[in-house]
Amino acid sequence: MNTVFSKADTESIRQAAAFLQQGEIVALPTETVYGIAADARNGAAVSKIFAAKGRPQDNPLIVHIADMAMLDGLVSEVPERAQLLAAAFWPGPLTIIMPRGSEVADACCAGLDTVGIRMPSHPVIRAVIKESGCALAAPSANLSGSPSPTTAQDVFADMDGRLPMIVDGGNCQVGVESTVITIVGEHPVLLRPGHITLEQLEAALGEEVLISGAILEKLKEGEVARSPGMKYKHYAPKADITILKGSFEQYKAYVEAHRAENPACLCFTGEDAKLDFPCICYGKEGDGNDQAFHLFRCLRALDEQGDGVVYARCPGQDGASMAVYNRLIRAAAFRVITL
Ligand code: TXA
Ligand code: MG
Repeated sequence: MNTVFSKADTESIRQAAAFLQQGEIVALPTETVYGIAADARNGAAVSKIFAAKGRPQDNPLIVHIADMAMLDGLVSEVPERAQLLAAAFWPGPLTIIMPRGSEVADACCAGLDTVGIRMPSHPVIRAVIKESGCALAAPSANLSGSPSPTTAQDVFADMDGRLPMIVDGGNCQVGVESTVITIVGEHPVLLRPGHITLEQLEAALGEEVLISGAILEKLKEGEVARSPGMKYKHYAPKADITILKGSFEQYKAYVEAHRAENPACLCFTGEDAKLDFPCICYGKEGDGNDQAFHLFRCLRALDEQGDGVVYARCPGQDGASMAVYNRLIRAAAFRVITL
């Protein structure tokens, strides 16, 4: 298949909308990461997403809308908690798991009686939703198992020949996928951390939000993932990444003691000048948003360098850093050494 690569403009938005109406799939920018979109009511179109990504069928998709009226038919009700969250964070990088409506294609929900809904803020995907009139099922636009793409070039590297069109909207400003929260149970539960933090969710809801077990550590043997995406090995680069938890001085001493392994460093901005090893800087120390913005591009840059041993500086675990830690421990296959 020939893949058209177009800068986002009125004409490419119109063409993307036409593809979607015809049951095709298209890669589009959002404020978090690039997505591969299909009409969420068209099961045949949605199944093309799974084929293009090599995604397991039991991992459900997020459905994207442009306004609250589009919820009609996608969800069976809009619970009060969803209304509070939507008022506080939509449009924006938050996905809310709600009771499923009758019109969503089965393939979006992977057999669950719930559906994840998000109203993105990025002007390009919003324009395509409005132009096509379709709610769009859209997972991240990477091959299953590689880091989510934050530039159109990264989408092209994974998806050339696998879909008819990529719309280039520049760098994604958030850099990690949306926060996912479920509100269908007795207590709201954070399923995936993102730019919208636990503290912000609790403030908007006025109640405690529980943290799903798989977020900050490996799922225990036999434990069931509340969010199917959590159980897969994600973001696995070619390199063997180990996270070193401690001060910069402890980090530097550890890496120097392991010089024989020819290690590379995944460090914070500015630390490369103080390290006598190949370095990739993934953002400012203590600034989770800056780290999130850079992280996936850096993991792809590591892959482009090939395999080998990599020691990573440890991000924080709370606030905006929780999302970074959650992605990085998966890239590191949960290897964290406390110095
Ligand atoms: O920022 C984002 O959310 C991006 C952009 C493209 O919008 N999309 C994205 O989709 O990250 P994806 O498919 O890569 O991640 C969806 C996550 C998965 O972990 C999936 O298991 C979870 O959301 N999910 C979707 N529907 C669910 C449901 N009904 N119940 C529980 N988890 C669900
Ligand atoms: Mg993904």
